[in-house]
Amino acid sequence: MKGVVLAGGLGTRLHPITKITNKHLLPIYKKPMIYYSIEMLVEAGVNDIMIVTGGNSAGDFLRLIGNGKEFGLSHINYTYQDGEGGIADALSLAEDFVEGQKMVVVLGDNILEKGIRSGVEAFQRQEKGARIFLTEVEHPWEYGIATMENDRIVKVLEKPKEPVGNLAVIGVYMYPPDVFEYIKGLSPSARGELEITDVNNRYIDRGEMEHQILNGWWMDAGENAEALLMANIMVARSQGVEL
Ligand code: G1P
Repeated sequence: MKGVVLAGGLGTRLHPITKITNKHLLPIYKKPMIYYSIEMLVEAGVNDIMIVTGGNSAGDFLRLIGNGKEFGLSHINYTYQDGEGGIADALSLAEDFVEGQKMVVVLGDNILEKGIRSGVEAFQRQEKGARIFLTEVEHPWEYGIATMENDRIVKVLEKPKEPVGNLAVIGVYMYPPDVFEYIKGLSPSARGELEITDVNNRYIDRGEMEHQILNGWWMDAGENAEALLMANIMVARSQGVEL
């Protein structure tokens, strides 16, 4: 199983902080944000990891993470995304690295209280298709939201303006290697990006998308300044700090 951490983008929602650095290098309590994604993959038994970065300060990832020794890895891979082509575009850069294996893709600004081990194990046993995690959110218009029928996902709507439920698709996606064929068939969305939600809907349309409800809390720490602050507080509290 391969792991891909997506840590590119220009972080415009966090300007001016991200004018001088990459969002995924900002601190969450005692560590840079990207540490949590890498640690989560390693904890789930995924040891062959590629970081896709881009935009500002891409070189700083190398200085920070090096060869991955601090995470118990013997090696770590990097690649560079030009511009802001979206999550699916960033993932497409990992095609050679993945070498026809299954993969876990993590957005480098997502922080999970309890990790993804059970999901990764279930995906290892899964015979075909993809797998995602869902969790209830208070602001469904900020996420990809799953519409359900008989406990199956029938559609994911990206940042819906009308109420369609509150089960968000978090930024951890598990795909078989055919995901790269699906990405090649995508067209940019209204915001000019190749959307991961479009990829997920292809698996759903083919009846090849499994899901599970996430255990513990989840945060998209890079959403905006409030989310960044809250992620710091949640992580510190989870480590016994009284705030
Ligand atoms: C992205 C996805 C969205 C998902 C979210 C999770 O949104 O497009 O479907 O719910 O990550 O963090 P973005 O943060 O790129 O706006």
